Amino acid sequence: MHTATEERIIRPARNIIGSLRLPGDKSISHRYGLLSAFASGTSRFSNFSTGADCASTLACMEALGAQVRRLDDGRVEVRGVAGRVTPSDKPLDCGNSGSTMRMIAGLLAPQEGSFTLVGDASLSRRPMERIRKPLAEMGARITLTDGHAPLIIHGGPLKAIDCTTPVPSAQVKTCVLLAGLQTAGTTTVREAVRTRDHSELALRAFGAKLTRTVNSVSIAGPQALTGFDAAVPGDLSSAAFFLCAAALFPGSGLILDGLGLNPTRATLLDVLTSLGAHIAVLNLEDQHAELVGTVQVSAPPEGLGSTAITGALAAQLIDELPVLAAIAPYTSGGIRIRDARELRVKESDRIALVAKNLRAMGAEVEEFDDGLDVPGGQSLHGATIDSGGDHRIAMAFSVAALRAQGDTLIQGAEAAAISFPEFFDLLDQVAER
Ligand code: S3P
Repeated sequence: MHTATEERIIRPARNIIGSLRLPGDKSISHRYGLLSAFASGTSRFSNFSTGADCASTLACMEALGAQVRRLDDGRVEVRGVAGRVTPSDKPLDCGNSGSTMRMIAGLLAPQEGSFTLVGDASLSRRPMERIRKPLAEMGARITLTDGHAPLIIHGGPLKAIDCTTPVPSAQVKTCVLLAGLQTAGTTTVREAVRTRDHSELALRAFGAKLTRTVNSVSIAGPQALTGFDAAVPGDLSSAAFFLCAAALFPGSGLILDGLGLNPTRATLLDVLTSLGAHIAVLNLEDQHAELVGTVQVSAPPEGLGSTAITGALAAQLIDELPVLAAIAPYTSGGIRIRDARELRVKESDRIALVAKNLRAMGAEVEEFDDGLDVPGGQSLHGATIDSGGDHRIAMAFSVAALRAQGDTLIQGAEAAAISFPEFFDLLDQVAER
């Protein structure tokens, strides 16, 4: 259950200057953690995400028989179960993490035994029918309560399917692929909008074969996975808060090293560029098929312009939309967001909460079923912000607070630790006051 405990005061900043290296990407850490725990052999990951969500994935996999330990040099070492988990008579606690629940469901559906997946109050409100349906089509027996967790899986052999995801969702795609990995025949997942492809890249890094087209991925099962060692690239969705903050202050200069720049995740750089921010990408490298590089950002002297985020862009930017909406009042022409109905079923109803908190800071904003219109040219004042227990809301409004008149109080600030426990310390490091 969520209890709002920690409050943080964010003082306005004069500028954002500095150089940071961010903790490992949440999406990639989930996948490396999950797949290494399922693979044979031992894997070691440096810069593994420090967020509570990835700890939930590791804890669930430990309960299913994997061995996880933190090495003295900070790396996470995982010894896998070689394709066969040990059913646990206790419920597996996915905490606040939708990725954990949806991806583990696909991994467990073809395994022998019964499994119960539970989550906190927020996760227990999130839609699970989107994974139950394709898994049921494969022959899995899964029970939900009114479309939600707890999720009870009676595992057993499945049959391969060819399906189209009901909403653009990398979690749903991954869920079906992980079931397909263990199922005889070819399982194909098609999607209308290409979502983040970390699962495809990670499965290959663990030795699996899959084939891809622009809008589909197929896996012929059953296949075995083998552990490996890797460094997790810095998290671009965490970087988004710093990139947006730097984009607000003419004279700013921020360098982010070792950042994950997978093209299915890097749309934010294009959007910031279209708003007028100056962005340079240096030292691009390939690490297990994930692109990693250095990003330099500075704000345009004339301030940010305006942009619209609709259609496929909305799906690709889904985790960055709260912070983009939160800085939109400081642009000259505002930001229009549509086709982002999925924001309503994230860790909170992010459309409602962004609108509420922008209004608390004195901004004008119009809320739509699938987005927001935030006019530009506004000045905001400090206010009390309700994070709703949602990490991205707590961090987005900490960024908006940097340009406000007066101090801002973030209620439920501890939520940041879901993805980014270091957030407030790093913000203090680069914010000049
Ligand atoms: C994620 C996919 C996205 C994203 C989430 C992480 C992933 O969710 O919002 O933070 O790691 O696959 P959906 O798949 O529900 O769009």
